Amino acid sequence: MDLERILFSQGFGTRRQCRGIVADARVRVAGALCTDPDADFPLTAPLDFEVDGQPWRYREKAYLALNKPAGYECSRDPQHHLSVFHLLPPQLTTRGVQCVGRLDQDTTGLLLLSDDGAFVYAFTSPKRKVPKVYLATTRHPLDEAQLAALVEGVLLHGESKPSAALAAVRRDDHLLELSVVEGKYHQVKRMVAAAGNRVEKLHRERIGGFALPATLAAGAWCWLDEAELAALRRE
Ligand code: URA
Repeated sequence: MDLERILFSQGFGTRRQCRGIVADARVRVAGALCTDPDADFPLTAPLDFEVDGQPWRYREKAYLALNKPAGYECSRDPQHHLSVFHLLPPQLTTRGVQCVGRLDQDTTGLLLLSDDGAFVYAFTSPKRKVPKVYLATTRHPLDEAQLAALVEGVLLHGESKPSAALAAVRRDDHLLELSVVEGKYHQVKRMVAAAGNRVEKLHRERIGGFALPATLAAGAWCWLDEAELAALRRE
């Protein structure tokens, strides 16, 4: 693929802008300066390049995990807070990366993002039933009746069918581990309220077989490799 198209595919701007970036001697490929936008590079092996000294690897599709802090909205066009896209390099937004489902602005933890439409659909479709594990800090102590109600199913305001958790485990008097497959608006907060308690803090710990890496600080993101994508699909 020629260098102009490589940069374009990775979100470095329009075709014209990418041509200019290369012609202005701002790009190194595998360590060597390249000023020819038409120079061809095979994509059979990993291709590492730098733009203005910033290292980048060519990726046909982007799959990433963000440790979402509180106070960020998942929308590109946020109403009251900053957008999670502020936490990512602008190239990722330019190449069309989007959130895989949404977390509330005050929810923290694992948020997946991708520009692979089929992947986004697969992990947000209610048909796929991918389990998501949340840790909810509750206002009132958890009791057995609440845990049983969450697993048996609670009727959410405005819904006709009950919502049931796959599992509801008390980790502590005020700390609930809730595993759900649905992704309705305020799903966990509404379920806990319907069971007679209230969520004070919410954190997503896991999606499918992939847990938020302990090394990923709040606000930081990482690429997902093949093994992590496979773990995600394991349920
Ligand atoms: N359930 C909620 O109530 N909020 C979230 O952000 C995610 C799940």
